[in-house]
Amino acid sequence: MNNLKLSSGYSIVNFNYNKYQLREIFIEGLNQRLKLKNKLELNEIHHQFDVKNNFEELRQQCFLIFKTQRFKESYLSIARDLIETFFSKSALVQKFPTIRIQSPNQSAAPYHNDNWFGHGKDVINFWLPLSQIDKYNSLRICKNKNENQYCLDYIVKNKLSLSKINSLLKQKCEPVVLNENEILCFKTSTLHGTEISKSKFTRFSIDFRIAPSQSKLGTKPINNFYNVNELDNHLSKKIKKKKQKQKRIKAFFYTNLCNFKSAKSQLMLCVSYCKDNNIDIVGGDSEILIFDYLPVLRNNLENKNIDAVVVFGVDIFSGNKKLAKSILELAGKNKKKIIFCAESVLFSDDKDKKIILKLLK
Ligand SMILES: [Fe+2]
Repeated sequence: MNNLKLSSGYSIVNFNYNKYQLREIFIEGLNQRLKLKNKLELNEIHHQFDVKNNFEELRQQCFLIFKTQRFKESYLSIARDLIETFFSKSALVQKFPTIRIQSPNQSAAPYHNDNWFGHGKDVINFWLPLSQIDKYNSLRICKNKNENQYCLDYIVKNKLSLSKINSLLKQKCEPVVLNENEILCFKTSTLHGTEISKSKFTRFSIDFRIAPSQSKLGTKPINNFYNVNELDNHLSKKIKKKKQKQKRIKAFFYTNLCNFKSAKSQLMLCVSYCKDNNIDIVGGDSEILIFDYLPVLRNNLENKNIDAVVVFGVDIFSGNKKLAKSILELAGKNKKKIIFCAESVLFSDDKDKKIILKLLK
């Protein structure tokens, strides 16, 4: 990694992300989706749209913008260029960023660091504002490395409650106000959060993480990330065209005892996963519970009319590696995918076997 001077836990880098038209994509997207009469200024959105009472709707509209080809191209180009500038070819980037919206007087994100949520210690967080920010609506971070470490140790040693963590870090974190075309990057150990916004502007920002390599991901599933090859594939026009023509996956649901999760809970997760990932469910089956060799699942994996079987997660194997191996081998032999929703892992050929077996307790 070069140029990212993170010795104090954070760094501000100049990066002309205006050229990727991220702001324009959001302005045009929200204008259309929210059917706004006047042209939208992101930081003034609360004058045209009741953000406070329709916050979830606004967030969902932003997620739909994330799924547009235009946004994907822009986001992945930024990620590709950041990797080119600061990382090596073994880096991985989150497939989707997170959107943050904070309008005046709106509540805050509690203080934390990203290590606490499973991101590896060498992963770097990139924070890009899409609208004008000031010290009242910006992200606040702990700018002093020693103080950051002191707080982390103090929190663990004294088993602080969430409210005490917040009161402590409120004192230690300061706002970072970026100029146009600056990006804030910080380590996953760096403590950060926001306060109730006293600004008159709404803040829109996105953040995402880049890991230097697969082994540095922490506990986050690799499926949430693109490696450089995948990034390049997504950005190459040829493959994009091919992808548009790609047929949707036809799949069956499958439920079993699954470490005593109710069939309803298993199905709920599968339905929502399939909806998010363009998978068409054309049928479904439950296992015959007295047979521990999963004959129903095996039967589904022989079904010529489907491409995949969607399951809750690796719990369907009840920790039995030998059973898992034989099921995965059968799926591989019949060219069927198995989609493990809880872990967000897709088995499609032999190379995925290792990942799935590793997930089995
Ligand atoms: Fe965070």
